[in-house]
Amino acid sequence: MRPLHSTLETAVNTATQTTLQQSRTIERLVEGVATSDGAGVSLTRVLTGKLQQRLDPFLMLDAFGSDDPNDYIAGFPDHPHRGFETVTYMLAGRMRHKDSAGHEGLLGDGGVQWMTAGRGVIHSEIPEQKDGAMEGFQLWLNLPAQTKMAEPWYRDFPSDAIPEYITGENVTVRVIAGSSNGVAGVVTRETTEPLYLDIHVPAGATFSTALPQTHNAFIYVYRGAVRVGDTEVESQRMGILSNTPGADGITLSATGDARLILVAGKPLHEPIVQYGPFVMNTQQEIHQALDDYRNGHFA
Ligand code: CO
Repeated sequence: MRPLHSTLETAVNTATQTTLQQSRTIERLVEGVATSDGAGVSLTRVLTGKLQQRLDPFLMLDAFGSDDPNDYIAGFPDHPHRGFETVTYMLAGRMRHKDSAGHEGLLGDGGVQWMTAGRGVIHSEIPEQKDGAMEGFQLWLNLPAQTKMAEPWYRDFPSDAIPEYITGENVTVRVIAGSSNGVAGVVTRETTEPLYLDIHVPAGATFSTALPQTHNAFIYVYRGAVRVGDTEVESQRMGILSNTPGADGITLSATGDARLILVAGKPLHEPIVQYGPFVMNTQQEIHQALDDYRNGHFA
C-alpha cells in the first residue's frame, strides 16, 4: 500500500470527529472458519450463513492473507453470481477480473472493486503475481428484491481514488463506501446505505464515527487489537456491534498499533434464500437462476 504521508498525497483531509452521545458495544466476538474456495484459495470465512439475518444486508465476509503462493495462485476461475453485490478490497496483491458483461480490470494494492451482479454475471478473479503477499477482503452485500434483477454494474477504484482523512490523534481512515466524519467514500447505495471504512489506529489513540441507529454493523481487526467499551477485539476477530437504542456511533481505542475494517448497513428485512453464488428471496427464484445459468442466459 502506498505510504500514507507521501508527498504525492495532496488530498488528505483532516477531520474533526463527531462527539457521540453513546457508543455501541460489542455484542459478540466471532472467529472465522478456515476454508477454501475458487480453484483452491485458502481463506477465512468470517461472516457465514448463520449470521446473515443478524448482519442483514451483509451475506458474507471472506478474509484472505498469505505470502505463500500455494494459498492463492489458483484464483477463482469462471463462476456466476446473481442477486447481490461483491466488494473486493485488496490490501496487498494484484488480481485480474474479467466478466461476461464485458468488464475487465486489474485490482492492485489498496484498490477496491465493486461489482453489482444484479440479474447475473459470470466472472473470473485470477492473481497476477507468482509470489509475494496477497491480502484483502471480499464482502457480499445483498440487493433489495426490487433490484436483484437489475443490469450488472462494475467499477474499479485504484488506491489513490479512495478518500482518506486523518484525525487529530493521527488515526487514518480510508472511506470506501458511505461517509464518516464528513468525508464521503467512492460508493454510495440507496436502500442498504453501506458504510465501509479501513481504519489505522496508532497505539493509544481513540477513534469515533457516527453510525445510523437503523444499521447493523461489525468490525474486523486485521492487525493489533482494539478496545470497544470493556471488550477487547483481537486480530483476526470480528466484533458484532450491539444495536443499543440511543447509541449513535462507535468509539474504539487501540492498545498497540491496530488496523481494522468497520462495515455497517441498513437491513432489508426480506427473505434470504441462498444457493452458493445465487442469493434471492424465494426457492422459485433460485430454480430460475439455475435454469438461466444452465441455459446460457447470464450475459
Ligand atoms: Co465471484
